[in-house]
Amino acid sequence: MAKIALVTGASSGIGREFALQFAARPEVEELWAVARNKEKLEALAAEIDKPVRVFSVDVSDNAQVAAFFETVAEEKPEIVWFANNAGWGKFCRCDELTPEESLSMIATNCSGVVNMAIRTLPYMPKGSHMINTGSASAFQPLPYVGLYGATKAFVRSYSRAMAKEVKRQGVTVTCMCPYWVGTNFFDNVHEHPGNAVVTKYEVMYRAEDVVKTAIRDAGRGKDMSVHGALNKFQHVAAKLLPQRLVMWIFLKKQGLK
Ligand SMILES: NC(=O)c1ccc[n+]([C@@H]2O[C@H](COP(=O)([O-])OP(=O)(O)OC[C@H]3O[C@@H](n4cnc5c(N)ncnc54)[C@H](OP(=O)(O)O)[C@@H]3O)[C@@H](O)[C@H]2O)c1
Repeated sequence: MAKIALVTGASSGIGREFALQFAARPEVEELWAVARNKEKLEALAAEIDKPVRVFSVDVSDNAQVAAFFETVAEEKPEIVWFANNAGWGKFCRCDELTPEESLSMIATNCSGVVNMAIRTLPYMPKGSHMINTGSASAFQPLPYVGLYGATKAFVRSYSRAMAKEVKRQGVTVTCMCPYWVGTNFFDNVHEHPGNAVVTKYEVMYRAEDVVKTAIRDAGRGKDMSVHGALNKFQHVAAKLLPQRLVMWIFLKKQGLK
């Protein structure tokens, strides 16, 4: 049975970085890379000098996820690292997203994460690590990032509870909560009928650094990974301050009311 690292959203940004950093680990014999865009996954595979298998799967579609796990069931790999990372967001008023877009975001960021997590767990031996991608937007409600932040609050809550539930299996579960990270994520956030509203990003962390911290934290068995000084400050402030005040500060910083 091959020891594999599985990454969703591996075609770009943070997921691509997970793929590269997992592949460089000695215990990983093979990488399985999942996203919708097969060409991008194949370009990633060409950069890695270990066996890589690419799977074009839309994680929001249960039929596609189930078909992928038929392959997993046939091969019964040992999944020693899993980055459950595919996701997207748009920053706008709630009604500038169509109902279909809103449900689709929930289907990817919440249902997709759950579906992948519970189908992967049986293949994770003692000592393996699952990293679910949350966000700093999970720490508090953020106007105009509302639905996206709510999906990530779901991921955070689900992951931290899961970490306790599967501890006896010897599997760690870590919710990685990045602040802003410079990736293609921002190509789509303003694709909505209204004006771009959330436009001020004080810092853009590098995917490479965020992923390095997440892998280190997962190795230490932490149930949360919060990379960066500003992110850590935000994490603590969101715990201590009234949420109404945190939202007010966010709107003020964005030049909004
Ligand atoms: N960038 C940030 O500031 C930031 C901050 C906090 C959290 N995050 C989270 O980090 C994760 C990765 O985002 P990123 O910043 O790396 O953005 P990105 O560069 O846009 O990458 C997103 C990845 O998710 C994949 N994906 C999206 N929908 C999918 C679906 N339905 N099925 C399968 N794959 C899907 C995309 O591939 P295909 O299009 O090929 O399917 C792509 O590989 C997301 O969960 C995002 O919410 C990002």
